Amino acid sequence: MLQDKLSPSMMCASFFELAAQTATFEKNGIELLHIDVMDGSFAPNFALGVDFARQLKQNCYIPLDIHLMVREPEKHIPSFPIAEGDIVSVHIESTDKPRECIEAIKSRGARAFIVLNPETPTSALSELLPLIDGVLIMAVNPGFAGQKMLPGTIEKIAETRRLLDEAGRGDAEIEVDGNVSIENGIRMRGAGANIFVLGTAALFRGDLEANIHAFRDEVFGS
Ligand code: DX5
Ligand code: ZN
Repeated sequence: MLQDKLSPSMMCASFFELAAQTATFEKNGIELLHIDVMDGSFAPNFALGVDFARQLKQNCYIPLDIHLMVREPEKHIPSFPIAEGDIVSVHIESTDKPRECIEAIKSRGARAFIVLNPETPTSALSELLPLIDGVLIMAVNPGFAGQKMLPGTIEKIAETRRLLDEAGRGDAEIEVDGNVSIENGIRMRGAGANIFVLGTAALFRGDLEANIHAFRDEVFGS
């Protein structure tokens, strides 16, 4: 059984309270920090970037979970401060060089995930199954926090789990991003997801520590 992990979506954090919020994450054993990187073209917004990632790396020991929503990610991977324990996710729709991206990520000791947009079928993963460390399933279209989970997400997680298991990749993780509420999280985990990106739906409103405990209690049963 894969370990359940939480990955707070840092674009939803309060930049005015970043030190306190990351300290709360360290204190509560948060496993990853999700960093959304957008180029205004592949995704219709701008969020976080290299300098933000570098400052987090210097001031917080939680591994980074970098989600690249940019065209030609192969050109940008070298700029990011990544090392062993970090994750970098690349959209299959954003590059014609997914193997090059995976190799560039792994050569730095980090773990390589492939992301599927809501309209991208799981068949897009097929030749990459032996190479990847995990799959990131988008439950919403990339770009903005606060959206609603799109239909078909739960079935897609289950299908991805089946494909990975059939390829002998029971070790590969499934991460889910977008509208991960407690209610949706229970269904996502039931379908085979084990990494949960927490944004506005479950974490960044009210008391962070209470929200972390509530999610773990109700979704992980721990
Ligand atoms: C985009 C982001 C959003 C968001 C997730 O990749 O990661 O999906 O911040 O949080 P919610 O949907 O809960 O606001
Ligand atoms: Zn994301």
